[in-house]
Amino acid sequence: MRMVEFGQTGTEVSAVALGCMSLSRERIDASKATVRRAYEMGINFFDTADIYGIGESETLLGEALQEAAIPRDEIFVATKCGIVLQGMEPAYTYKAYDLSPGYIKASCEASLQRLGMDYVDLYQPHRIDYLTHPEETARALEDLKAEGKIRHVGVSNYTPDEIRALQAYIRLESLQTEFSLLHLEPIETGLAATCQATDMTMLPWSPLGKAVLTGRPVSHDDWQEQRDYGVVAQLRPFAEAYGLTLGQIALAWLMQLPGPVIPLVGTANPDHIAEAAVAVDVVLERDDWYELLVIARGRPMPWGQRPYTYLKER
Ligand SMILES: NC(=O)c1ccc[n+]([C@@H]2O[C@H](COP(=O)([O-])OP(=O)(O)OC[C@H]3O[C@@H](n4cnc5c(N)ncnc54)[C@H](OP(=O)(O)O)[C@@H]3O)[C@@H](O)[C@H]2O)c1
Repeated sequence: MRMVEFGQTGTEVSAVALGCMSLSRERIDASKATVRRAYEMGINFFDTADIYGIGESETLLGEALQEAAIPRDEIFVATKCGIVLQGMEPAYTYKAYDLSPGYIKASCEASLQRLGMDYVDLYQPHRIDYLTHPEETARALEDLKAEGKIRHVGVSNYTPDEIRALQAYIRLESLQTEFSLLHLEPIETGLAATCQATDMTMLPWSPLGKAVLTGRPVSHDDWQEQRDYGVVAQLRPFAEAYGLTLGQIALAWLMQLPGPVIPLVGTANPDHIAEAAVAVDVVLERDDWYELLVIARGRPMPWGQRPYTYLKER
């Protein structure tokens, strides 16, 4: 497995990570087998969150790692906090965001308990909370670091300005953001550049476009899915030329960006994580990389224009 440095931590993590959002009791055997298979393929980076399955994803990840007797110091576990749920399963709704110190500390304790771990390697505010000053959020996170409960801090779904505001008080090692050939905002809006400028590792979520980029059949009633499927159809010749699956070419395209960029591949199918692991060694020709970008954009590059002119025109 190709390994990369995570942020400025000096810690090496796998170039692709297992996204654990879809681990579930309904697919318990497959879920646990996926965690084991990921580890066997050399993937040591696992991403979850307190809200995934209302805690079930953290619990299952912890159980799977323990049952497979995987040494704690060989893996890198990331989780998140800050989205407040209301109501009982399955009728819960997202209620609010909370990154106040008390909420963060209680969330961290609860996550550690579900995971069955003394610490997590990466702790991430899931979404910004407008009602908490970044200095307060940073102080709580620094406290957790000092107590040895979290090793590193990253953010999720923050804008460049929001990143800078929190970075004024605490070192951030990573950013999670939706990013794929179906969602180009991070490179169009300067988010990727913001990460590069401060050695933050980008962690694209839904890197397979929630399976549309693997060729999953799309809904005929959904114009966005229809549009996305048009992109997928144009990826096929590239996948064939490189001898890859559609999903592998979509992941390879992301990983080629400097950064590093570590896709969070969401699956509870062992064969699917094994397929993703192979993509870490693929290098696309520069021309092909840009041609895929043009396909994803749905129109040629704005040669001669500045990107923001293009954005205004959209
Ligand atoms: N920070 C955030 O706000 C945020 C939001 C969403 C997600 N995330 C993170 O990102 C991870 C991935 O996101 P995601 O699950 O939304 O999207 P994704 O990785 O783009 O797609 C996951 C879907 O693709 C399918 N799939 C995966 N590999 C496949 C293959 N080789 N062939 C066919 N189907 C395949 C999976 O089904 P199978 O299970 O059947 O393989 C699943 O339905 C999550 O687990 C989570 O860690 C973070």
